[in-house]
Amino acid sequence: MRIGLLTGGGDVPGLNAAIRAVVKRGEGTHGHSLIGFRNGWRGVVDGDVVPLGRPQIRNVLPVGGTLLGTARYHPHADDGGIDAVLATLEAERIDALICIGGDGTLHAASKVAEAGVRIVAIPKTIDNDVWGTDRSIGFDTAVTIATEALDRVHTTAESHNRVMIVEVMGRHAGWIAVEAGIAGGAELVLVPEAPFDIEKVVRFLKHRHRAHASFSIVVVAEGAVPAEGTAMHYRTEVGRFGEIVAGAIGERLKTEIAERTGFDTRVTVLGHVQRGGIPTAADRILGSRLGVAAIDAVTRGETGVMAAVQGERVVLLPLGDVAGKVKHVPADLIDVADTLA
Ligand code: F6P
Repeated sequence: MRIGLLTGGGDVPGLNAAIRAVVKRGEGTHGHSLIGFRNGWRGVVDGDVVPLGRPQIRNVLPVGGTLLGTARYHPHADDGGIDAVLATLEAERIDALICIGGDGTLHAASKVAEAGVRIVAIPKTIDNDVWGTDRSIGFDTAVTIATEALDRVHTTAESHNRVMIVEVMGRHAGWIAVEAGIAGGAELVLVPEAPFDIEKVVRFLKHRHRAHASFSIVVVAEGAVPAEGTAMHYRTEVGRFGEIVAGAIGERLKTEIAERTGFDTRVTVLGHVQRGGIPTAADRILGSRLGVAAIDAVTRGETGVMAAVQGERVVLLPLGDVAGKVKHVPADLIDVADTLA
C-alpha cells in the first residue's frame, strides 16, 4: 500500500516518535511505502509531499516538534478544500491516510473520511482533551514542564512572600492545570470546567496568609473564566486567529488579587515552553504505541477510526464518535487538586 502521513494543529513533543513508529512498522513489517505531507492538511491541499522512510526518521525519537511540519488549517472550512484533498490523494496514488492531530485535525479527518478517504487518526494535544483516549501525545511532557516551573516558582514566591499566578495552556479543558497543580503543590487551581468566584479566591488567599503562610501559588488554565453573576467580569480573550490571548486571564487575575488583597502578586505565563523540547519517556512510548496501532489498523483495512489508549490497552474508536467532542477533567480529579490546596 501507499500511505500518506500528516501532523496537524499545534505541535507537541512525541510526534516524531509516532511518525517513526508508523514508518518502521509500515515499511519494515508490512512492506508499505510511505510519504509525508508537509504542514498538515495544508500540504495535502497543496500537494506538498516529502519522502518518508528510514533516512528521515533517523535520530528523531528524542526530538520535539514534528519533522513533517504542521499548520492550523482545515480543508473542510475552505471552499474546494475537500476536493483539493481528493485530487492530491489521487495524483499521489494514496491508498490511505494517517492523521496525527488534536480536535481540529480530527474533525477535518472525519470530514475527509466522509468523502470516501480511508483514514486512521492518532490523538495528540498537550491539552489532553481529545475524547475517547486516556492520554494524548504531548500531554505528559507539558505536565512535566509545568510541574518543574511550579517547583521553581515556589522558591521565589516563598522568598518574596508573594502570590504567584502561573498561567498554563488549556483552552477548553484544565488537564495541565489540574495535574501540574497537584504535582507541583499549588494552593489554588482554576480551570474552565469550574468557573471561579473571585471573592472566594480572595477570601481563601487572605485566610491562608493570615493563618499559616506568607506566599501562595495559583495555577490558572488559559481558558478559565469567572462564574456568571460573581464579582469579576471577564470573557476569554480571543485573538485574530481564534487563539486564546496568552497571559490575558493571568494578568487579569493578578490585578484583581493584588487590588483586593494588597498582596505582592506576580504572573508567569508558561506559553509555548510547554509544547517545546524533548519529549518525556511516556510521550515517546505513547507515540510509538499509537503509531504501531494506526499502521496495523490501516493494513487490516480498519479505517475511519482513531487509535486511543484506554487503561492498559490501545483500542480503535470510530472517528465520528470522537471528533468534535471535548474530554473534560472529571470532578473527582479537580476535587483532589482542591483538597490538597
Ligand atoms: O491546542 C493546543 C494549544 O497548545 C492550546 O493549549 C493553546 O491554546 C493553543 O494550542 C495555542 O495555539 P498556537 O500555537 O496556535 O498559538
